[in-house]
Amino acid sequence: MTVFERVVRPQLFRLGGGDAEAAHEWTLRRLTALSRRPVALAALRARYAVQAPRTVFGVRFPNPVGLAAGMDKDGAALAAWPALGFGFVEVGTVTAHAQPGNPRPRLFRLPGSEAVVNRMGFNNAGAAALAARLDALPRPIGVPLGISLGKSKVTPLEDAVGDYLTSYRALQGHGDYFAVNVSSPNTPGLRSLQDRAHLDALLSALVGEKPILVKIAPDLTEAAIAELLEVCLARGAAGVIATNTTLSRDGLAPADSARGAETGGLSGRPLTGRARDVVAFVHSETGGRLPIIGVGGVLDPDDAARMVDAGAALVQLYTGFIYRGPALVRASARAAARVAATAVAPDPVAGR
Ligand SMILES: Cc1cc2nc3c(=O)[nH]c(=O)nc-3n(C[C@H](O)[C@H](O)[C@H](O)COP(=O)(O)O)c2cc1C
Repeated sequence: MTVFERVVRPQLFRLGGGDAEAAHEWTLRRLTALSRRPVALAALRARYAVQAPRTVFGVRFPNPVGLAAGMDKDGAALAAWPALGFGFVEVGTVTAHAQPGNPRPRLFRLPGSEAVVNRMGFNNAGAAALAARLDALPRPIGVPLGISLGKSKVTPLEDAVGDYLTSYRALQGHGDYFAVNVSSPNTPGLRSLQDRAHLDALLSALVGEKPILVKIAPDLTEAAIAELLEVCLARGAAGVIATNTTLSRDGLAPADSARGAETGGLSGRPLTGRARDVVAFVHSETGGRLPIIGVGGVLDPDDAARMVDAGAALVQLYTGFIYRGPALVRASARAAARVAATAVAPDPVAGR
């Protein structure tokens, strides 16, 4: 057990009487404060940073393991993440309109299953606020910045393209890549934007200057994923992020059945196998032509290595960070880099 698991995690899990969002907010506040302390950041960097660079969709990543969307939606603690070992950071999901998200409680830990259920509902300060914060950054964060875009709850589905475009235009100058989030289960109707016609319209509007990646749900059938991939290839998407949280409740420990019954998306260990299968399917279906960011249930370095083995060019984690802390980032980056270095052609990152 690491110090994080033995000492830090139990304290975090007790905060707010065990309310998972209280622990999240406390952590984010601490990391935001840390972001302004260069000496502390340098000390952390010396301990956690991993150099294993690779170039994917034309962007150079210092190592292949990034922070998944949703952890730092408004980019509050940007400088802290690279110091904790992350090779890239995806902020958001942000929406054109600031919105409060769903009523609390909306985030639940399922420790017996190393899982989380969330129905946050894109709580965020809006694209313009994120742009202002990024404008005000004293210096670049030193790793690529991804920005995840979603649809505002107040915007009807038929106006979704305009809503994504508003956010994209506000943030275009700031992101090294953009993720089109059409797979969160917590905004009514959002997942239908994965359908051919909707996605085609969305990508036609967004693809151009910056790499645009599409984040997909693990609950799609292979036929639906294949159709989505056709649109991605036809419209020039730079890649796919697989996967978002799942509506399935397979793989939960009996002790977690009550919390498992909460509405929302499930992440963590129960998602590991399915997310990896989706990555493998995308890789084989596209013959490696679309770079993949593999995400879902990376709880140990071996999970990260197997994601790369399945065809992921990059890996992200969220729930693993909650249960394992920064040591997981470093170990996963090393493991993923080792597999990538020994990978045989065809290389999914080549030529983009
Ligand atoms: C509390 C929480 C909030 C999330 N918010 C977002 C989000 O805003 N946008 C997004 O694309 N994914 C979001 N996700 C999904 C994660 O980015 C990731 O795809 C998913 O949790 C699977 O990875 P994991 O098992 O490592 O957590 C969220 C996940 C959690 C647990």
